[in-house]
Amino acid sequence: MANDEYLLRMVDVEKTFPGVRALKGVNLNVKRGEVHALCGENGAGKSTLMKCLIGIQPVTSGQIIFDGKPISKYNTADALNMGISMIHQELSPVEYRPIMENIWLGREPVGKFGLVDHKKMYEDSKQVLKQIDLDVDPKTLMVNLTVAQMQMVEIAKAVSYNAKLIIMDEPSSSLTEREEQQLFTIIRRLKAEGRSIIYISHRLEEIFEVADTVTVFRDGTNVGEAAVKDITTEQLIAMMVGRPMDDMFPKIDTDKEGIVLKVEHLSHHKYFKNVSFEVRKGEILGFAGLVGAGRTEVMETIFGIRPHTEGQIYLHGKPVEIHNPGEAINMGISFLTEDRRGTGIFPLLSIDTNIAIPNYDKYLTKLGLVDQKAVDEACAKYVEAIEIKTPSLKQKIMNLSGGNQQKVLLARWLMTEPDVLILDEPTRGIDVGAKAEIYQLMSELAAQGKCIIMVSSELPEVIGMSDRIVVMHEGKITGILDNGPDITQEVLMRYATGTDDDF
Ligand SMILES: Nc1ncnc2c1ncn2[C@@H]1O[C@H](COP(=O)(O)OP(=O)(O)OP(=O)(O)O)[C@@H](O)[C@H]1O
Ligand SMILES: [Mg+2]
Repeated sequence: MANDEYLLRMVDVEKTFPGVRALKGVNLNVKRGEVHALCGENGAGKSTLMKCLIGIQPVTSGQIIFDGKPISKYNTADALNMGISMIHQELSPVEYRPIMENIWLGREPVGKFGLVDHKKMYEDSKQVLKQIDLDVDPKTLMVNLTVAQMQMVEIAKAVSYNAKLIIMDEPSSSLTEREEQQLFTIIRRLKAEGRSIIYISHRLEEIFEVADTVTVFRDGTNVGEAAVKDITTEQLIAMMVGRPMDDMFPKIDTDKEGIVLKVEHLSHHKYFKNVSFEVRKGEILGFAGLVGAGRTEVMETIFGIRPHTEGQIYLHGKPVEIHNPGEAINMGISFLTEDRRGTGIFPLLSIDTNIAIPNYDKYLTKLGLVDQKAVDEACAKYVEAIEIKTPSLKQKIMNLSGGNQQKVLLARWLMTEPDVLILDEPTRGIDVGAKAEIYQLMSELAAQGKCIIMVSSELPEVIGMSDRIVVMHEGKITGILDNGPDITQEVLMRYATGTDDDF
């Protein structure tokens, strides 16, 4: 039995939530020692299937056979014991405790007299962190880590269980290039040890780099499976969206007249230096660079989250001082942040409240009360425009799939109808079909005379959507390039790594 080629079989799995049929007759087969990727549209059911598998939620019906045995009615602790561990899409570290306690939470090593053996915990943690090449002290508090480091700790933790099957739900979403490569090294090692990995990602390049097999999900069920070596990116996209996609980047030609936002010699003693650029009406200005280049910090400064030490911001030709986001919004600037968990969503509140929060001022009745009907209508319009998948606007945002949460935030900032819309990694965690919709929307906004600043680490989207591209390296602008046929990923990388000597 145990020498079955398949480590995991999920047969005809159904899962319903009140008002939502999240999984419909799903079948998934994972071989021993393979990396099996899951991909597909936001809300298709990938995370839900994995939460059922790890025992967070029971399946409504269907069968799960793991390592030759049918398993049912189990919780997460049982799953871990059976050899299944998981890296979750939304991290939830115990922030004010050290890394080592986060890793061994609930299974602390005990010494004599039944007390926690902190020394062993420390040494074991060092070992685990070393395995993943993360160079931090296990006593460091989680709050003091970057999001990428937290994600690496989460990976270390999942690996430390010695599981036969490790589920990784968008593990790379906030990793830098270097850490992403570290993750792939770990995955290859785990695979060589005969373990299986389920790898969920919207980044198709990753699937082609690391996976053996891919199962595609659409609308609550698996719609296709393929050996990665036998298919092309185009074929995979066609499987995902149900049709070939010919124009991923629908760019509309616009008149670019009048500078709306101008930034001159902006500096911050720590993050960036002498940053100057301008953006015109109807323009999409891309910001490329490696993670840590200072792009987000510049945008946070423009939005009033962070002070600058030198320099000046101008709006419509006038110098302005922006002390907080409220002032920025009133001046017509909106900002979609890259870190939705930290600075974006209010998990317990409904979708419409999450969209409307900065917008209530615009929907007041004569008596100064919020006109809820108008708010509802406006929200519904955006939910429809960017196809947020939910049975109701009153649903708590935390019940939405990761990508749909990102879309809610986008709706929030679109509803402020800003002159300047700053988008920081706008398509992170968003499926290919919805990405194309967001690009379409960006094009339309630009055509209406808005200006858009897009910070992105995805070079194809920077090249596909920008009129001009600002490249930053270690806090400084290394190039402002007119987009055109000569602008390739290689060219941008040269500016981004500061090795553009021949220019
Ligand atoms: N606790 C819940 N209550 C109600 N609905 C839920 C709950 N959890 C998930 N859903 C719904 O189940 C569906 C599948 O969501 P799931 O998170 O599995 O999608 P996903 O494929 O992981 O998407 P993404 O790529 O955006 O992460 C969605 O419609 C979601 O809103
Ligand atoms: Mg998910």
